[in-house]
Amino acid sequence: MNKLWLLLSMSLICGAAIAEPPGDPKAVTNEDGKYLDANGDPTFNITDDGTVDWYTFSGYRRYHSDCHVCHGPAGQGSTYAPPLIDSLKSMNYVEYLEVVTNGRQKVGASGNSVMPAFGTNKNVMCYVDDIYVYLRARTAGVGGTGRPPKKEAKPAAFTEAETACMGG
Ligand code: HEC
Repeated sequence: MNKLWLLLSMSLICGAAIAEPPGDPKAVTNEDGKYLDANGDPTFNITDDGTVDWYTFSGYRRYHSDCHVCHGPAGQGSTYAPPLIDSLKSMNYVEYLEVVTNGRQKVGASGNSVMPAFGTNKNVMCYVDDIYVYLRARTAGVGGTGRPPKKEAKPAAFTEAETACMGG
């Protein structure tokens, strides 16, 4: 068994245990209005005057229509579901995608705790990166808890991807 295979099978078997923490959220590239960090994961870009990138703004809206009811305003948590602004300190992008797609539940003495699976819900999955970017900003303590007052223009690439995702 060569080293690569060994590494690959180890990471499949102990994926959760040896998962990489999320990297520095600093944006290093901008692909048609979508910002990426050094790992190539989606991230926010918020300027000193409070102007947020389009994805942060879109994520703010989507979060508050689909996640807020359980996870509280601005990812701050509720008595039912954990504060995602704490979760994303240790959870990386791939782990986030996994939980949102497949859901998760815990059955315990204090009751059941259910994170629904959103994998077939286009209103969530077509905007899953947007929600991540918004929550990443909130986790970093930037962008504020309310509706972002200023935003970049909607990128053409966003509209194209949205049409393809919602229609496809
Ligand atoms: C019906 C309530 C509900 C809704 C709606 C909901 N969640 Fe959850 N979510 C939960 C609960 C409860 C948990 C904790 C599950 C557990 O105990 O393992 C959770 C866990 C999570 C986790 C893992 C957190 C951690 O610390 O491990 C992520 C990430 C997450 N939710 C993201 C989202 C996103 C994004 C949305 C909106 C698209 C969303 N959730 C909508 C109830 C909900």
